[in-house]
Amino acid sequence: MSKGNCSNVASFYSGKSVFITGGTGFVGKTLIEKLLYSCSGIDKIYVLVRDKYGKQASERLARITSTPAFDRIKTSRNEDLKKIVVISGDITRENLGLHENVLKALENEVSIVFHLAATVAFRLPLKDAMRINVNGTENVIELCRRMIKLQAFVHVSTAFTNSDRTEINEVVYPMPINLEEARHVADRYSHDDVIVCAFMGRKPNTYTFSKAFAEQLVLKQCEDLPAAIVRPSIVMSSIKEPCPGWIDTWNGATGLFVGMPAGVLRVVLGRGSNVTDLVPVDIVTNLIVVAATECQKQIKLQRRLKKVVDAVKFFLLNEWKFSDDNIRNLLNTMSPVDKEIFNFDVKTINWESCIEDYILGARKYLLKSEK
Ligand SMILES: NC(=O)c1ccc[n+]([C@@H]2O[C@H](COP(=O)([O-])OP(=O)(O)OC[C@H]3O[C@@H](n4cnc5c(N)ncnc54)[C@H](OP(=O)(O)O)[C@@H]3O)[C@@H](O)[C@H]2O)c1
Repeated sequence: MSKGNCSNVASFYSGKSVFITGGTGFVGKTLIEKLLYSCSGIDKIYVLVRDKYGKQASERLARITSTPAFDRIKTSRNEDLKKIVVISGDITRENLGLHENVLKALENEVSIVFHLAATVAFRLPLKDAMRINVNGTENVIELCRRMIKLQAFVHVSTAFTNSDRTEINEVVYPMPINLEEARHVADRYSHDDVIVCAFMGRKPNTYTFSKAFAEQLVLKQCEDLPAAIVRPSIVMSSIKEPCPGWIDTWNGATGLFVGMPAGVLRVVLGRGSNVTDLVPVDIVTNLIVVAATECQKQIKLQRRLKKVVDAVKFFLLNEWKFSDDNIRNLLNTMSPVDKEIFNFDVKTINWESCIEDYILGARKYLLKSEK
């Protein structure tokens, strides 16, 4: 019995089916293995795979499970590999290019969606980067909307979507350009580097630019969905799982870590005192797995807040002048003692401390937070 059987996270996945895009990639493979290994009660893991390099999706999956990442699951519970259901598709196509019967199965069975598929090439023409990272995300969200059991949609972004800022909070920052404008420029001027660079402003490449727009989509189109965004920094080899040092990509910092010790790479331009933002792949996949378990709770809160925001909009957009002569007259009839004990004079309110208590009170009594 794996340790996962007594964990709350593993229980969350028990009996549920998940859908993963980007499962042939470095992070995606590691995620599939982790779900199989540590969430042993999981039902099916649907993996969207493109037909590529003349290979069918099913052949490509076989190559993935033959990598060392899957050794421990093969040794401990080889049978569980059958839980992986490969489906041939492409996120840039309508309905991800899926057959009607496959779509129906996903819509009826899937509870959790992990969207990792992306182009991670920094300098792809803007049009292609937008097509994969933005339109692809839109297509995945559309499918999520039709999933009757959906409990979590985890969108994997990058910490560098906001690399034009120095301090980055866990919020989706508004883009100075709207999506339609970005699509228009991408369609018309994609191969004109001067226009594209000027248009992207302080975003350093088409990868971060398009991933930033993908986040905007998640923010706007998932208001009523149980969604989360995970933003890894530069993903490096695993710290522990599926085995220490597991890596299968030259992307990110790998080239430096191979080239430098081998003496092949002798000079790299950089600032020695800077912190390099690396994160082990198993830390990332663990966060992705756990984030899904929180989506529904947070969103419940988001949905409630959205209702409140919608409800108060009218009152926030308008202003009124209320007369209170009767109240003032009534106050004037009261003795100082009664005014003290039965105060209703709004002029005596210290709004600063009142609002502070309001926020603290809501946290304490509604959110039951200790802090
Ligand atoms: N690696 C990092 O350092 C890093 C850091 C921060 C964030 N991230 C994010 O983490 C996620 C995974 O990154 P990764 O490093 O695992 O990338 P990766 O190894 O390049 O994998 C990308 C995955 O996306 C799939 N994909 C691309 N276009 C597709 C399409 N049109 N339809 C269906 N699938 C498509 C690829 O499928 P094929 O095999 O068919 O090409 C592959 O499975 C990405 O969203 C990335 O932005 C990665």
